[in-house]
Amino acid sequence: MCGIVAYVGKQDALPIIIKGLKRLEYRGYDSAGVALLNDSGLSVYKKKGKVSELENSLKDNANLKSLIGIGHTRWATHGEPNDVNAHPHYSSSENFAMIHNGIIENYEVIKTDLINKGYKFHSETDSEVFINFIEDIYKKNQCSLEEAVRLALQKVVGAYAIVLMNKEEPDTLIAARKGSPLVIGVGKEEYFLASDATPIIEYTNQVVYLDDYEIAVIRNNNLQIKTIENVETHPYINQLDMELEAIEKGGFDHFMLKEIYEQPRSIADCMRGRLDVKSGRLVLGGLRDYMKKFQNAHRIIITACGTSWHAGLVAEYLFEEFARIPVEVEYASEFRYRNPVINERDFVIAISQSGETADTLAAIELAKSKGATIFGVCNVVGSSIARATHAGSYTHAGPEIGVASTKAFTAQISVLSMMALMLGYQRGTLPEGQFIQFLHELETVPAKVEKALALNSQVEEIAKQFKDVRNFLYLGRGYNFPVALEGALKLKEISYIHAEGYPAAEMKHGPIALIDEEMPVVFIATRDSSYEKVVSNIQEVKARKGKIIAVVTEGDTMVKKMADHTIEIPSSHEAFVPLISVIPLQLLSYHIAVMRGCNVDQPRNLAKSVTVE
Ligand code: F6R
Repeated sequence: MCGIVAYVGKQDALPIIIKGLKRLEYRGYDSAGVALLNDSGLSVYKKKGKVSELENSLKDNANLKSLIGIGHTRWATHGEPNDVNAHPHYSSSENFAMIHNGIIENYEVIKTDLINKGYKFHSETDSEVFINFIEDIYKKNQCSLEEAVRLALQKVVGAYAIVLMNKEEPDTLIAARKGSPLVIGVGKEEYFLASDATPIIEYTNQVVYLDDYEIAVIRNNNLQIKTIENVETHPYINQLDMELEAIEKGGFDHFMLKEIYEQPRSIADCMRGRLDVKSGRLVLGGLRDYMKKFQNAHRIIITACGTSWHAGLVAEYLFEEFARIPVEVEYASEFRYRNPVINERDFVIAISQSGETADTLAAIELAKSKGATIFGVCNVVGSSIARATHAGSYTHAGPEIGVASTKAFTAQISVLSMMALMLGYQRGTLPEGQFIQFLHELETVPAKVEKALALNSQVEEIAKQFKDVRNFLYLGRGYNFPVALEGALKLKEISYIHAEGYPAAEMKHGPIALIDEEMPVVFIATRDSSYEKVVSNIQEVKARKGKIIAVVTEGDTMVKKMADHTIEIPSSHEAFVPLISVIPLQLLSYHIAVMRGCNVDQPRNLAKSVTVE
């Protein structure tokens, strides 16, 4: 977690860092800080709260001009969010300052040792221990800071992306990573470092992705990269394919709303160049070399967290229906700590928007060590998961900034739908005629999503009536069961209303006890193979006076008679309905959260990418 930004070059560093931190605030927003170096020395400024609070606190300070600086926006792990625990952290001598994203697992042992040597700590963070550990090595070995960092990294256990400044070297930044992302932007006589490319894109599209166990030293306008074994590597410069406008709000009140509205385009972008209805072709480049393994897999294991896990559940239905291969969908956090039975005949699909989720990464490493083939479905190009997998397909949804995932979810399902169709076709479980028909059907999804978005004002009206309730239930069956889970997750994470998602038929095994006239129940009751069954479940709720909000297929009459509110979405084959039925649920949670005065884009306690386990 946490976002880091650093700059060295010919420009004033502070505005670049503050702007960059605002772009990275989705990664954490408990506190923020910067370190700057000028004639008055190395100064650290930090503040509890958002980056704007740090910015305000610096308004009247005339001593902030600096051509080098580091900045941090924090999601607290060790120590509560306050000014002292905020980054950057000084070393004891105040000669060095460091920002850190990640967790040092063996910090307590190191801290005890340092305390015994007389070190004093101001914060409760592992990061302050880390910088003092580096300083201790620096003093003991009388070496360069770069060498001290290298030696320290050989000893620390855990995850880190760090950037350090040295009071004595006004043109030098030292950075390193393991398990937490770090991108280096290469400008003209200037360098930018950040947790992702969004703070960099407006200055340069040339970037280097630092690899695990690599240390970058930017000194005197020159970038040198070495491994922690001290072996020099040659930085590979990538061209960023990202537009500035993609990371700005573009007239919407919130990123989340913008991203919800982007879905017709993001789904189309995801299918562009892959699905060609005219020629009846479906090509996923990433699968090309692995198609045989995929086809012959004994089992598909899908691993992910949160919303991405919900996309995995949809894929379970897709793969089993089209390709007749058994599928298991695993929470990465559980999978990694079980002793799962996996072998080389398994095909593992890891799904992640950020490509940085620590649990998903660990699950990948585990499955890899057992010989399975790992395929990534990621949104962030060049992310750790994209690089840790054998092959993969990007979702091409564009940067997702709102902490609650929306367009990434539909893009993930789009990729997984294409994978399932390809697999079914290649294995012969999906006859050509049906395959072609499904391609046609998939191609119509963006226009249907557009129509679902046109229901926004109706959904807003419904939101007005339910904004003050304390609980919500979401029910669906078949392909719409994961959608019910996703609808509930969206609502709870941004509006702080307690919400549960369930398979509709499971209601009678417990949750039905909750139903009374106060309880809103959202049914996803589209016309599909379980429609009649869901209608019966609706009746069960109606009989107990629950308030029914139903997402139905256009033209539905039966549910309309029973529900308090119906939201009609365009009809589609049931396999692709989740791409459409989730839209009103995203809008409902958005409007309720806005009406309750919640911070939609940055809900409390959450962060966009969860790089801690
Ligand atoms: C919910 C949400 C999270 C993420 C989860 C996994 O809206 O965004 O549940 O889906 O943290 O993140 P990724 O997909 O980046 O691995």
